[in-house]
Amino acid sequence: MHWHELSTETKEQLEQLKLQQMAKLSVDEKVICVTRLEDGFFGMHNTCPHAGAQLHHGHCNKKGIISCPLHGYKFDIRTGKSADGNNYVVRKYQFKIEDNKLWIGWKNY
Ligand code: FES
Repeated sequence: MHWHELSTETKEQLEQLKLQQMAKLSVDEKVICVTRLEDGFFGMHNTCPHAGAQLHHGHCNKKGIISCPLHGYKFDIRTGKSADGNNYVVRKYQFKIEDNKLWIGWKNY
């Protein structure tokens, strides 16, 4: 897992998110759809694998199921997997707080 420390400014911006609200975050040339759930922040690649819509313009429910704004395909932001029976897998990102700093992590693959 590769961990990247987010700036204080980014941390403060993400902390402004309401539950299930989504935002676009750019880190290290990656564009990530981030949301806030009751147990923390979660992220996935922001480009829908179906036809390229930006997932952060979609909808997120309480369980972290993201609906794509274009055709409504659903993805679980906790796992990156399809939540409606498709075979799509979206790269996921994890967050952690350490030393009062917010970190984003991803697997190198
Ligand atoms: S572009 Fe996302 S479901 Fe079609």
